Amino acid sequence: MRIDIISCVPNLLDSPFSHSILQRANDKSLSEVHVHDLRKYAVDKHGHIDDYAYGHGAGMVIMCDPIFNCINDLKKEREYQEVIYMTPDGEVFNQQIANHLSISCENIIILCGHYKGIDQRVRDEIITREISIGDYVLSGGELAAAVVTDAIIRLLPGVLGDETSALTDSFQDGLLAPPVYTRPKEWNGKQVPDILLSGHESKIDEWRLEESMSRTKERRPDLWNNYINSQPEAKPKKK
Ligand code: ADE
Repeated sequence: MRIDIISCVPNLLDSPFSHSILQRANDKSLSEVHVHDLRKYAVDKHGHIDDYAYGHGAGMVIMCDPIFNCINDLKKEREYQEVIYMTPDGEVFNQQIANHLSISCENIIILCGHYKGIDQRVRDEIITREISIGDYVLSGGELAAAVVTDAIIRLLPGVLGDETSALTDSFQDGLLAPPVYTRPKEWNGKQVPDILLSGHESKIDEWRLEESMSRTKERRPDLWNNYINSQPEAKPKKK
């Protein structure tokens, strides 16, 4: 998979993709991330990419042409399945969207907003999907783009060492992940639960499911309701 991120502050994205799992994905040629400086596509000799918003009120808006020209250049080289715009008024990102993008896309463009955002006509004409990473406003879309990129790339087959580990992440089955423990067996007077030391795999799986369910019910009633409603109804027992 290839992800092209377009930003007017590309330095903000200097390092998130050069460490740990994303670096490994790149080394194994499973993914590549390219960051493009929108300022290189400025249309006037002063290097402007933004201008005052029409109507009254403060705030600069990124102009259509720099974005259009940058995306057009990329599209000349390859086909993109999605052109995503990071914005607080987009669809709220979640694991289902990450799964979908990692399965269905070979090439993705992610455009980061800044200032008051981008001209609406670009959103209408070129953007295929608008994503928010939560109900708060960041200074720009760069950190949000890094979040989305990480969540997608770690799901690509071969990226995680143990192929099953993404399947046991929080949210994959609609529940939060259960607690985990490592050595020592006793720390600060607290013990690792006996069941995890029992070697009894099916009982451990049962315990984990119970823990996931109680954690989800307590911390995320919204997810818990969805989970309950998505379970097939228990069949009435025959007399
Ligand atoms: N840009 C600014 N805030 C954002 C958010 N919450 N999600 C995505 N992009 C953003």
